[in-house]
Amino acid sequence: MNSRPKKIVCIGAGYVGGPTMAVIAARCPDVQVMVLDLNAERIAAWNSDNLPVFEPGLREIVRQVRGRNLHFHPQAQGVSALAEADVVFISVQTPTKTTGEGAGKASDLQYVEACALLIAEHARGHTIVVEKSTMPVRAAERIQQILSTTQAGSTFAVLSNPEFLAEGTAIRDLEHPDRVLIGGEDPAAVAALKSIYASWVSPEKILTTGLWSAELSKLAANAFLAQRVSSINSLSALCEKTGAEVSEVAKVVGADSRIGPKFLQASVGFGGSCFQKDLLSLIYLCEHYALPEVAAYWQGVVDINEWQKRRFAEAVQQASVNRRVAVLGLAFKKDTNDFRESASLSVCRRLLQSGLEVIAYDPRVDGQRFAAELASPSHFSIATTAAQALAGAGAVAVLTEWDEFRSIPWATAKLSPGAVICDGRNIVDRLAVQQAGYGLRVIGSAVP
Ligand code: UDX
Ligand code: ADP
Repeated sequence: MNSRPKKIVCIGAGYVGGPTMAVIAARCPDVQVMVLDLNAERIAAWNSDNLPVFEPGLREIVRQVRGRNLHFHPQAQGVSALAEADVVFISVQTPTKTTGEGAGKASDLQYVEACALLIAEHARGHTIVVEKSTMPVRAAERIQQILSTTQAGSTFAVLSNPEFLAEGTAIRDLEHPDRVLIGGEDPAAVAALKSIYASWVSPEKILTTGLWSAELSKLAANAFLAQRVSSINSLSALCEKTGAEVSEVAKVVGADSRIGPKFLQASVGFGGSCFQKDLLSLIYLCEHYALPEVAAYWQGVVDINEWQKRRFAEAVQQASVNRRVAVLGLAFKKDTNDFRESASLSVCRRLLQSGLEVIAYDPRVDGQRFAAELASPSHFSIATTAAQALAGAGAVAVLTEWDEFRSIPWATAKLSPGAVICDGRNIVDRLAVQQAGYGLRVIGSAVP
């Protein structure tokens, strides 16, 4: 089949599947898009005004296309749509394995395999199956193997179409991507998927490669981005010792057009569901293919990130003038409600372990869900405003770069006298803190 697909099904209504399908539906009004998820509660939220994913611009797009050519259904009710689908996207989680071979490093493909089984059972005729979730190299082989068990005489073409959107800017990234990547060995299937993206992406930005290159490119892109953050974070420690300012160093280094200015913002450490997981998956692959030197190289990126989070938590512990620490920001970055692998999770766990009391504020994260991820949440509480979190605190840890944290009125904040603000994002108004008489520690700066 090389004609334009008319019916798309996406399995997985998460941070990737939901926004991606919303933009496809908006840009391709002639295509019917159905999103399925095992989690009926999540589907109900997608069908409500309270979407399960917070992304600037997402709500407006969903309102425009939901019920027109975008439909969300619990898997049990919508599974029959697979029989008529021209294209099925697999957009489920691929977390790091916690047990079995490769535990702690390899990606867990059980959710992907369950999708492949479902497709094998329900698809009819010819179906293009698209890996949207980030997969380890040669995962498509496993999907193909499972699809070939179909009893219905169906045929399949498997493509890799990894998503490069970043959370917080998902809609912008989907609407104006740097590139779209389609990996596959079946030209007709590649052309069919290309015709969907060509509705709004210029052809020179749609890159086509072999399957394995596509799978590896996605891991490589995330590894390169994470490496830049670890590189600048490693230098942030040296700046603190030498009196250099990491933001000045980053500006100068990034002004070299060969290096570029993006992703050089020193921080308390990268978080999110992708960087660490994809680095570990890459490391596992290198070990699997007996490339220990390459594995060790990328392991260094993970190690610096762990060290950065740890040394920040230790700095907060040492700085606090009492047992109460205010945490500003739980999300792994601004403009998202996602806190998976966030630096905040790691820092809060350490602070609680050391016996401190933590009161946290985040404008978007569901505090109860965050607390459920902590081993000892009894000394953890949630404030509904930044001012409430700050009251009486002996130290403040600024962990997410939410815009509102740039302009906290420190003069009226009721911190404990002598309290210290530890800025893990280099966004706090230094003068305002100094004028209010509080101490300040900033990642990558020896000031004040
Ligand atoms: C990343 C990739 O950017 C995206 O292309 C891929 O599809 C998924 O993984 P995401 O994890 O959503 O996206 O966000 P990203 O903007 O990459 O930030 C990741 C982490 O790095 C965040 O915790 C962020 O705060 C941190 N970061 C980023 C820094 O600490 N400094 C920087 O300069 C940039
Ligand atoms: P991502 O960030 O990759 O989008 P999420 O965890 O946000 O990952 O979303 C993945 C979604 O996939 C979840 O809502 C989960 O319920 C759903 N899911 C996982 N396995 C299956 C499956 N076999 N069938 C349908 N949905 C699934």
